[in-house]
Amino acid sequence: MATRTRPATIPITEIEHAAFCKTEDELPAKSLAEELAVNVRWQNISPEYLHLAPEELDERIHDARRQLGSAVTVLGHHYQREEVIKYADFQGDSFLLSQEAANLPHAEYILFCGVHFMAETACILCAPHQKVILPNITAGCSMADMAPMEDVEDGWQDLQDILGDHGGIVPVTYMNSIAGIKALCGRNDGAVCTSSNATAVLEWGFQQGERILFLPDQHLGRNTALKLGIPLDKMVVWNPFKRLGGNTPEQLRDAKMVLWQGHCSVHTRFTVKQIQAARERFPDVNVLVHPECTMETVQAADMNGSTEFIRKTINEAPAGSKWAVGTEISLVNRLAINNPDKTVFCLDPVICPCSTMYRIHPAYVLWVLEGLLAGQVINQITVPEQIQRDAQVALDRMLALR
Ligand code: 13P
Ligand code: SF4
Repeated sequence: MATRTRPATIPITEIEHAAFCKTEDELPAKSLAEELAVNVRWQNISPEYLHLAPEELDERIHDARRQLGSAVTVLGHHYQREEVIKYADFQGDSFLLSQEAANLPHAEYILFCGVHFMAETACILCAPHQKVILPNITAGCSMADMAPMEDVEDGWQDLQDILGDHGGIVPVTYMNSIAGIKALCGRNDGAVCTSSNATAVLEWGFQQGERILFLPDQHLGRNTALKLGIPLDKMVVWNPFKRLGGNTPEQLRDAKMVLWQGHCSVHTRFTVKQIQAARERFPDVNVLVHPECTMETVQAADMNGSTEFIRKTINEAPAGSKWAVGTEISLVNRLAINNPDKTVFCLDPVICPCSTMYRIHPAYVLWVLEGLLAGQVINQITVPEQIQRDAQVALDRMLALR
């Protein structure tokens, strides 16, 4: 059995970042060998899967799923490419998928088409007899990687020393973080949040203590705190490479929000200039962005919200309406296809997928499914018991808020 507690973190290189960027035209599905040819380092896979054509992969995936029946449930995040999301029994944002994972006692195997932190969360929330599988173990999240455990533990200790440990500061982590950080929040009276409930979790956090340490996305933290009326001069950024995060003890004592210096490389590409260009092109356009975008972009947009909010808002919008969307391209393309009576396009004319979400190719899906048929669990995600217990406390606090 191949069990994994942490992915081999394979950072996204410039080559990989640009390799799958597209123009407005759809990129045709390719074999895994063709995708690897652009010089990316994904998980090694049995060579027999490398050259299978998309049609062959599709046929064999359907066949494997038929044979495995209800023992396998496939969960898919909205950012998965079309060739993968079509196999999902449930699609959603990270909040919905974590709820779904907690409600699937019949499925022995949960095949998580998303990224590592999502599969870890499913593992924490599902029953002990269930096994969570991530088809490509290198599908991580560059934002989650910006908050490694040792740096967060050091920073947390410094903050405790200065601010005291009884309500002086409450740790809140975005779902996009490793399980160890969720556990740190659970152990220290904190909670997890997702982009769909960050406001409610911050409100809860301010009832528990004077300040919040928000990990690892400074932009979601800042945008949400602004929504709650916290002024910018009450927010500081914690740079893990500097002493006290680059702050003085006085600045930390004066702050309401300590924002970990992390970001999403996909969402920080969206700019105010792109919003202006969209409005010049279509004066009646609605600009809808994800709250991982910068403060300037979120404030210039008409609306912001989680991937599920974006999906629902556009699906329910009146025919003829126009939408410039600031989020990952697989979701934007899907919304455009599913809403032919509306104009839906990506804010950024150079459209790049989330490179780590893109690491899930159908060949990996087939590989792990056929592994199950052969009695082998490939890429099972596990979380050490104590971390699981502590992280569950932080996740339960979040789930209780909605
Ligand atoms: P959602 O919580 O909106 O699904 O977003 C997850 C994510 O990774 C966005 O970059
Ligand atoms: Fe991580 Fe950004 Fe990809 Fe979301 S879009 S999984 S935050 S890198």
